[in-house]
Amino acid sequence: MKRGKYIVIEGLDGSGKSTQQQRLLHTLGDQAIGVREPGGTPMAEAIRTLIKDGSIPRAPRTNVFLFSAARAELTDTIIRPAIGAGKHVVADRNWLSTVAYQSAEGVSNMDEIYQLCKAATEELFTPDLLIFIDTPVKICWQRLQKRGSTQGDYFDELGENYFARVREVYLEHLQKLPRYEIVDGSGSIEEIAAKLHTLATALLS
Ligand code: ADP
Ligand code: TYD
Repeated sequence: MKRGKYIVIEGLDGSGKSTQQQRLLHTLGDQAIGVREPGGTPMAEAIRTLIKDGSIPRAPRTNVFLFSAARAELTDTIIRPAIGAGKHVVADRNWLSTVAYQSAEGVSNMDEIYQLCKAATEELFTPDLLIFIDTPVKICWQRLQKRGSTQGDYFDELGENYFARVREVYLEHLQKLPRYEIVDGSGSIEEIAAKLHTLATALLS
């Protein structure tokens, strides 16, 4: 059985990841499944609810462990079995989010972040392709405010400047991956979908 490919879509909140994930899944049909992080299994969704609850204070380092636990669960129960069964997996986020968001919220021990990310994902640490949708911070922020998700959400409440720091860390660490693409997120949904389609077709053909 030929293994499926693991494609990750990354970007800031509101950058258009889930819109593009749905578009790509639509074009791939039943060859592919979609997952999102954190979440995707009952346990990982429970961890997601806990993490996103802005009323629960925590040390930033705690988030690294919680996201990694949700990721290990998703990897072991959904992503690895699907790839082994020949399905492609299109993921909304992976460990690069932990590197970007948790270091931007103050976790300074980057070695520890990487160790946990590697432990959670094992051989799936390196995706076949990671696409970073680079949408200007201002646009992301305006979209989040429009959908009313900046209140009560732990991460969205950290604010626009925090998002700008997250983007910087993304761009710095992205370059360590063997296969990544940066797609300008300020175009139309159609334009971006066409670019992702071209990238996915090149990988899968
Ligand atoms: P994310 O999953 O990265 O948080 P979404 O895909 O949910 O982002 O998009 C956030 C909002 O922006 C949604 O309302 C979506 O319809 C809109 N949106 C996504 N991509 C674009 C785009 N290229 N142009 C304009 N609006 C967009
Ligand atoms: P979500 O509603 O999924 O945001 P989006 O639709 O933009 O992806 O919320 C997930 C939040 O968790 C988001 O603010 C990014 C953050 N996050 C981390 O801080 N670290 C991580 O490892 C992951 C996967 C997400």
